[in-house]
Amino acid sequence: MENKCAIEMRNITKRFGQVVANDSINLKLYRGEILALLGENGSGKTTLMNMLSGIYQPDAGEIFKDEEQIYIHSPREAYEYGIGMIHQHYKLIEVFSATQNIILGLNDGKMDLSAAEKKVKEICDRYGFEIDPSKKVYDMSVSQKQTIEIVKMLYRGADILILDEPTAVLTPQETNKLFKVLKNMKMDGKAIVIITHKLHEVMDVSDKVAVLRKGQYIGTVNTSETNPQALTDMMVGHAVSLNIDRPKYAEPKKKLIVEGLTCIDAEGIKKLDSVSFCAYTGEILGVAGISGSGQKELLEAMTGLYPVKEGSIRFINDSGSEVELVGLTPKRIRATGVGMAFVPEDRLGMGLVGSMGMTGNMMLRSWKNGRGALLKKKEPEELANRVWKDLDVVTPGVNYPVRRLSGGNVQKVLVGREIASQPEVLLTAYAVRGLDINTSYTIYNLLTEQKMNGVAVVYVGEDLDVLLELADRILVLCGGQVAGVVDARNTTKEEVGLMMTQFNTSGGAHE
Ligand SMILES: Nc1ncnc2c1ncn2[C@@H]1O[C@H](COP(=O)(O)OP(=O)(O)OP(=O)(O)O)[C@@H](O)[C@H]1O
Ligand SMILES: [Mg+2]
Repeated sequence: MENKCAIEMRNITKRFGQVVANDSINLKLYRGEILALLGENGSGKTTLMNMLSGIYQPDAGEIFKDEEQIYIHSPREAYEYGIGMIHQHYKLIEVFSATQNIILGLNDGKMDLSAAEKKVKEICDRYGFEIDPSKKVYDMSVSQKQTIEIVKMLYRGADILILDEPTAVLTPQETNKLFKVLKNMKMDGKAIVIITHKLHEVMDVSDKVAVLRKGQYIGTVNTSETNPQALTDMMVGHAVSLNIDRPKYAEPKKKLIVEGLTCIDAEGIKKLDSVSFCAYTGEILGVAGISGSGQKELLEAMTGLYPVKEGSIRFINDSGSEVELVGLTPKRIRATGVGMAFVPEDRLGMGLVGSMGMTGNMMLRSWKNGRGALLKKKEPEELANRVWKDLDVVTPGVNYPVRRLSGGNVQKVLVGREIASQPEVLLTAYAVRGLDINTSYTIYNLLTEQKMNGVAVVYVGEDLDVLLELADRILVLCGGQVAGVVDARNTTKEEVGLMMTQFNTSGGAHE
């Protein structure tokens, strides 16, 4: 059966000042199909979709719905055409229930809440969503909030759904659930666009893949007739190697000794339970675990951002003397001469100023280091230029305001700044989240380069394939405890996966 074309974009062009974000793009979305929209950071994916969701209007080109030309002037008009887009930041009212959020702005006040709840439940049952219609948003996980956004679009009758990097904030299990729902919606005749940088997800969920490169449309291929390597080459425009080199460092030395680390959160829940391990110079120590197993608390405790109940974190100086970090603030840690860099999970807290360019933001970190007063303008500018070049940041220049950059390029500035700061210990949480595949490999190479310079790298990651290829050893966390430390060269995904869940049934103590 031939699927019907729901939306056609013809010769769509969009400029921001001198930046041509979309250059005469042609794209077709079909009913009963999932289209993955693929492209490097800054290639124009979000911009293109925002012209369907009514946020931007094209400078040139035409949009057709069911072969009739339409003009979408606002998000409200997009709804009326049955187009719904789920953005990365959800705009929900925390004190409202799921249903209250879903009907917000509809038929003002006349709505019967229990009738609405019934309809919400019907939508959920039909597609396999799992939410409680009367639950308040503040009690919900990120994945549940995302579900509300999707149900909200369906409630409004959307039959063309666009999801911009929906899986960036989901665990692999939640991603699987989302994909099941998307497949159900597709079977129901909806046209779906998903933006994701994870190629295994593209292969898993999509029927077709459309590729953009530097604002231009490269082509559309059938998913069943392509593979990750071919897609990467199409995206980047030349052959790219998807291999990670893992050289061995000659003389690893102990750099950080963590012993009996225990942390308790504000509600009295144990987030870290007597965690002990060492990080060595010239080593990438991978940290694996189901999300929420204590990864975040561990890195924050090591940088002085999370209160420690018990235990010690000792940093070993080049001279061999030890500095106890527990009890010190991040500022005190820096003042004692401990060179630590940190890429946290929550990047917004990292002190990036949107109105400043890359150079200004490089200086910001140096100021935090307490050396700002001595810095000449030249040093951060060199740093900015290096990050610009190494990570291929899509920006007209190092002084261009970072808030104008695409999502992934903002991430590059943050991650690049930390790596370029020449730390002795480099702690990273989900360093490649939101980054395109080519840049992700550049980051892996940069981390390995740091390791070979003798840096102790701690890499918290969610992709087991990458952890197994990149890390020297892997620390596996489970429910805030250390399930074990394995040699990454001599383990398997299955072994690590098993360790990640080992305490869930037995609840036993570790070693
Ligand atoms: N509001 C804006 N003002 C100025 N430039 C913008 C604006 N929005 C996007 N751009 C520019 O348009 C280009 C495309 O950005 P877009 O956000 O569409 O990329 P993307 O493919 O979604 O990238 P990512 O994978 O990083 O999210 C980038 O060069 C970006 O800097
Ligand atoms: Mg984007």
